[in-house]
Amino acid sequence: MKYLGSKRVLVDVLGRIASAVEAGAAVDLFTGTTRVAQELKRRGMTVTAVDTATYSKVLADCYIATDAETVDEHALAEALAELSALPGRRGYVTEVFCERSRYFQPKNGERIDAIRDRLETHWRDSPLFPVLLTSLLEAADRVDSTTGVQMAYLKRWAPRAHNDLALRRPELLRGAGAALLADALDVVDALPRTDFLYLDPPYNQHRYFTNYHIWETLVRWDAPETYGV
Ligand SMILES: C[S@@+](CC[C@H](N)C(=O)[O-])C[C@H]1O[C@@H](n2cnc3c(N)ncnc32)[C@H](O)[C@@H]1O
Repeated sequence: MKYLGSKRVLVDVLGRIASAVEAGAAVDLFTGTTRVAQELKRRGMTVTAVDTATYSKVLADCYIATDAETVDEHALAEALAELSALPGRRGYVTEVFCERSRYFQPKNGERIDAIRDRLETHWRDSPLFPVLLTSLLEAADRVDSTTGVQMAYLKRWAPRAHNDLALRRPELLRGAGAALLADALDVVDALPRTDFLYLDPPYNQHRYFTNYHIWETLVRWDAPETYGV
């Protein structure tokens, strides 16, 4: 997923450092995409991932708090197939992000609307909910028409925006972990014993919510009023 300050390139180095000090319990206090937390979990650590963004909480529920061993793979595959087959239906995303602006092609916006509605009505209480919603967020990210931040869309369509939205199965990880939707300052003193604490706060005054408002809206599904589109 495209994300400001994502440590996509650094994750291996960070993971090696954590392994070198034989960390058993790790905390990623500003987890964002959860990439670093994933690497630490992949290396066998028990990870707690914290962020104030609700989309980060969903990503962390999927990749960090979900133990791949406990997932019903058959049910997951069926759910992804069913959601993928849903016909598109014009809704909030289509109207706001495809017609009044150009973040997604309408064909993809309609499918995002249909899939997200279905997740709300049929999957809200399922342990698969964060996994399926992560699949939708990542699929939408692959067909958006931005530079990677959502303050603006591109004047000319990004070539990837013409592709069809495609849900993929997130690469789930084995083991236990925790996801917290919280302010780092509120939870840092109450965290469990930690061997490795990774701190990657924002670098400037721009709030992540405004740069990633579409992900916030897709997760909250609260159809906020819009302006300036
Ligand atoms: C530089 S990014 C982290 C990127 C992350 N390491 C990655 O690889 O994706 C900073 C993150 O801090 C989060 N954040 C901002 N203020 C916060 C706070 N007070 N407590 C916890 N998280 C916060 C933002 O939502 C954002 O995801």
